[in-house]
Amino acid sequence: MNKAIELTGRPRRVFTDRWLSAVLILFVIPAVAQELVPDGPFTDAECIVCHETREPGLVKDWRNGPHGSASGINCTDCHGDRHGDSLAAARRNQACNGCHQGPVNHSYTTSKHGVILRLEEHRLDWHRPLKRGNYRVPGCSYCHQHDNDHGDTMAPEHGPSVRQWICAGCHSPRYVREQFDSGRRQQEIAELKVTEGEGLLSTASTLPPEEVATLRKPLLQHLRNVRLGVGHQSPDYQWWHGQPALDGDLIRIRDRITQARRLEAANNTTTNH
Ligand code: HEC
Ligand code: HEC
Ligand code: HEC
Ligand code: HEC
Ligand code: HEC
Repeated sequence: MNKAIELTGRPRRVFTDRWLSAVLILFVIPAVAQELVPDGPFTDAECIVCHETREPGLVKDWRNGPHGSASGINCTDCHGDRHGDSLAAARRNQACNGCHQGPVNHSYTTSKHGVILRLEEHRLDWHRPLKRGNYRVPGCSYCHQHDNDHGDTMAPEHGPSVRQWICAGCHSPRYVREQFDSGRRQQEIAELKVTEGEGLLSTASTLPPEEVATLRKPLLQHLRNVRLGVGHQSPDYQWWHGQPALDGDLIRIRDRITQARRLEAANNTTTNH
């Protein structure tokens, strides 16, 4: 409410207020801002000290999240060491890809989201905040650091509702539900295959423990591929690097166990004679 107008109709005060605002905008605010937000460079310790008083929640989420105390990934790893364009820089996939390569990155780049983003990346405005539906397709941080989340928005402990809410910013709720149902089935099937593999391996008493470990390892890798294929919506990872790869693992385990049993039977026959 404008007090000046209320008290005196259309008074000179308005002019004075405007003049004052002009002085503030032109000289005082930039000077204060300059003082408050120097460009840097800063060390991680400096970022943390200063931002912990401004945004205690943000720093706490980072500490407790996957990039905090546990892994020692700091502010500058995503934002760089200067204020400048630190926000836009952290929103780009390049902020993540240096560290998250292999299946994590590949499952995303083989998804429709990844393909579209790669094609349109150069003309995207990364200054837009990561809010619902604010981008055409999601990049890494859109899903994982959504709306300034410095933990992991996609962490399984948040449950499926958070994920569904994020997807539904761009897709219809029905489509999202269907995707989640089929994703859950995919994972259940993959887990059954792993259980079957583990069961077979537990009967392979004649195999040396190192070989059992070698046979078990791909089972877990391919289960992870299915999880990444579902999480990153990559058909290649659900199918090619996921389910058929698990089927192949089971065949190899069965073959190896049968072979070992034959060998054992043959040895027994020789020693019995
Ligand atoms: C001396 C205090 C101080 C230090 C040190 C500091 N910042 Fe800031 N930073 C600020 C203030 C104040 C703002 C608020 C700007 C605003 O609200 O518009 C800010 C804003 C930001 C923003 C949001 C930028 C935007 O465009 O809205 C990011 C991201 C950021 N800082 C990251 C960092 C990182 C990373 C470091 C360490 C390399 C760091 N800051 C060091 C005080 C600091
Ligand atoms: C894993 C990468 C990553 C790390 C590590 C990280 N940030 Fe960020 N940060 C981001 C992303 C991405 C955004 C933009 C989120 C958005 O647009 O909703 C952001 C946003 C911010 C903002 C803007 C908040 C606002 O309200 O506008 C500040 C301030 C900030 N980060 C400070 C920090 C500080 C301080 C640290 C270290 C304690 C840190 N960040 C560590 C990725 C990261
Ligand atoms: C300097 C390296 C580095 C950068 C940059 C980085 N991360 Fe990470 N990230 C790690 C490490 C190390 C871990 C913890 C170990 C692990 O789970 O791989 C981790 C963990 C994670 C996790 C949890 C993984 C899990 O198993 O639960 C997610 C999700 C993640 N990062 C996403 C991102 C995203 C998105 C970005 C970019 C905005 C990013 N990271 C930037 C190194 C990095
Ligand atoms: C459409 C949303 C979305 C996008 C985009 C996205 N992720 Fe994910 N991400 C997920 C979901 C969902 C999971 C599965 C979490 C789970 O169930 O364990 C996941 C899992 C991960 C994990 C954990 C991997 C593990 O072994 O457990 C990492 C790390 C990760 N993503 C990093 C990234 C990076 C880097 C990018 C960009 C190249 C990216 N994500 C893009 C949603 C997304
Ligand atoms: C920021 C917007 C946005 C978000 C968030 C988003 N998507 Fe998408 N998604 C798109 C666009 C755009 C396409 C490509 C449109 C098309 O093919 O019709 C797409 C394509 C897809 C496809 C491939 C469809 C096909 O025809 O092959 C699947 C599956 C999918 N999204 C699932 C999801 C899931 C699950 C989530 C949440 C974890 C999600 N999306 C989050 C925008 C988004």
